[in-house]
Amino acid sequence: MKLIVTKSYEESCSAAADIILQLVKNKPTAKFGFATGSTPIPIYKKMAEACKAGTADFANARTVNLDEYCGIAPNHPQSYRYFMDTNLFNNININKANTFVANGLGDVNANAAELEEKIFEGGAPDLQLLGIGNNGHIGFNEAGDHLIAPSHVETLTPSTIEANARFFASPAEVPTQAITMGMRGIMAAGQLLLVATGAGKAEAIKGLLIDDAVTTQNPATFLKLHPNAVVIIDSELAALAGVK
Ligand code: PGA
Repeated sequence: MKLIVTKSYEESCSAAADIILQLVKNKPTAKFGFATGSTPIPIYKKMAEACKAGTADFANARTVNLDEYCGIAPNHPQSYRYFMDTNLFNNININKANTFVANGLGDVNANAAELEEKIFEGGAPDLQLLGIGNNGHIGFNEAGDHLIAPSHVETLTPSTIEANARFFASPAEVPTQAITMGMRGIMAAGQLLLVATGAGKAEAIKGLLIDDAVTTQNPATFLKLHPNAVVIIDSELAALAGVK
């Protein structure tokens, strides 16, 4: 695992954007696995800026997203399709037909199976961008006594619902289930790029960077098994997690 410790979250996002932009430059048909949540927003802004400046070209890139809430429509302001459109896809020159976010409505088990197909269609993503939950979840693969390999419907833990309640009018409105890429799809990517910031992530990052254990109680620890995983954190989080 490669660790990059930056001076600030802003710098972490620049470093992550640089890796993404370099990849699409080297391989214009690159396939990206993208993530939602607060953490990647500045990364997506930097990608949009590069596109606007004419230094990046996503015209031939393809994407597949980690997850989507069950029970809300793609045009719902808290859906991850809406998030990706407004934070990234509308702001870069990607062909939206080449972007995939699972549908949270209808037969969600069938939609999860469709996500699994899209992950591997034409080959697994060249790069998968990841955030990390306070409990170590990646995608919505929640901490627990086991993990699930294929894309599936996951029941969100109370800690995840609480963490995501900030985006909804009340915790009761947070969907209780989500479609998520499983560990197989995530681990199949050519490169994993995890960005984390904030005190809430310290325990999970400690488990990832300090301990040697790989445990389903902290799904991010599976990055230790990936041959090309890059973790980017700022010095504040590094200090809180005890990373020297
Ligand atoms: P966040 O979410 O970027 O909003 O902290 C990360 C995650 O839950 O994976």
